[in-house]
Amino acid sequence: MMNALLESHNVSKVYPSGPIRVTAVRDVSLSIAEGEAVGLMGPSGSGKTTLLKLLGLLSRATRGSVFVRGEEVGGSEHRRARLRNQFFGYVHQDFAIIENETVERNVLIPLEYARPRPAWRECRSRTQMVLDQVGIGWARKRNPSKLSMGERQRVAIARALVNNPVVVLADEPTAALDGVTAEEVMTLILSIKDRGASVLIATHDDRVARRCDRIVRIVDGSLVTGGDSPQGRAVLTPVGANRRAVGVSFPGDGTFRVDLADGCALVVPFTWARRLGQATTEQQVNVRIVGDGRILSWPEVGEDIDVLALLEGDKKEAM
Ligand SMILES: Nc1ncnc2c1ncn2[C@@H]1O[C@H](COP(=O)(O)OP(=O)(O)OP(=O)(O)O)[C@@H](O)[C@H]1O
Ligand SMILES: [Mg+2]
Repeated sequence: MMNALLESHNVSKVYPSGPIRVTAVRDVSLSIAEGEAVGLMGPSGSGKTTLLKLLGLLSRATRGSVFVRGEEVGGSEHRRARLRNQFFGYVHQDFAIIENETVERNVLIPLEYARPRPAWRECRSRTQMVLDQVGIGWARKRNPSKLSMGERQRVAIARALVNNPVVVLADEPTAALDGVTAEEVMTLILSIKDRGASVLIATHDDRVARRCDRIVRIVDGSLVTGGDSPQGRAVLTPVGANRRAVGVSFPGDGTFRVDLADGCALVVPFTWARRLGQATTEQQVNVRIVGDGRILSWPEVGEDIDVLALLEGDKKEAM
């Protein structure tokens, strides 16, 4: 088991909103391992940005705790600020670009807070390097307000990577990018896994989610599945006798759905679907329900698999 770099234990965020209170995140427990890329998916308004801000110490939880490398972060603003600057890289959903500063200054900001602070020359060369990596090295001296949305997004990504963060929290980092550029940027973001860093990406884009190691889904502020609830795992062991599934489909939300012969459906993340190789909607797969119907056997895979949910008719059960 890899070490958890970042964890939340039952974090909730309640926003006052006029006379009512909005619970934007509800009792979310999530653990992100060293070198792991986790995709966070969910409908608009489901709490993705709020959760990223809680985990990234940009916002304080109403209840619950955040742990960095196994240590509870706590309320000390000094400690939170130090971790924000040294541990995390953020790609904000709205890019958070400072309009009257150059692209270079925008990207440099995390280096100014780094301790020890690198020499100026080093700051500039690192900034140039990440701008080159995201394909906008030419824009270093430009004013960001003159850039296209996709270029601005890449400025935000360069800023998140410039300080070699241990965890990158990226909020819809490819929303303004075309498919090819999005793929390139994802490759760049995911390359930080090679040095044991981790990534949490909020996204609506299946192509992005598919490249993550694991997908968690949030609905109305709660993780529906794929979190760390003990019953969130099903152990799949090889078996001989298989039952035929009646259908396989891609609902378009980053999951892969196997409808079973008895009317139940198993929803699994794309990462599992990938094991099927060139799975198509037509492909038949063999699965078998054993025990109480929650534990499935998969003939070719003899390891732990994250199961998102077992759907039975209209009743949706988070496992
Ligand atoms: N500062 C705030 N004050 C009050 N309510 C807020 C605030 N920020 C977010 N909310 C509410 O919390 C809920 C979750 O918002 P959040 O931005 O986290 O969703 P999201 O999943 O990131 O959505 P999107 O996919 O549209 O980016 C929404 O109902 C939103 O209106
Ligand atoms: Mg959001």
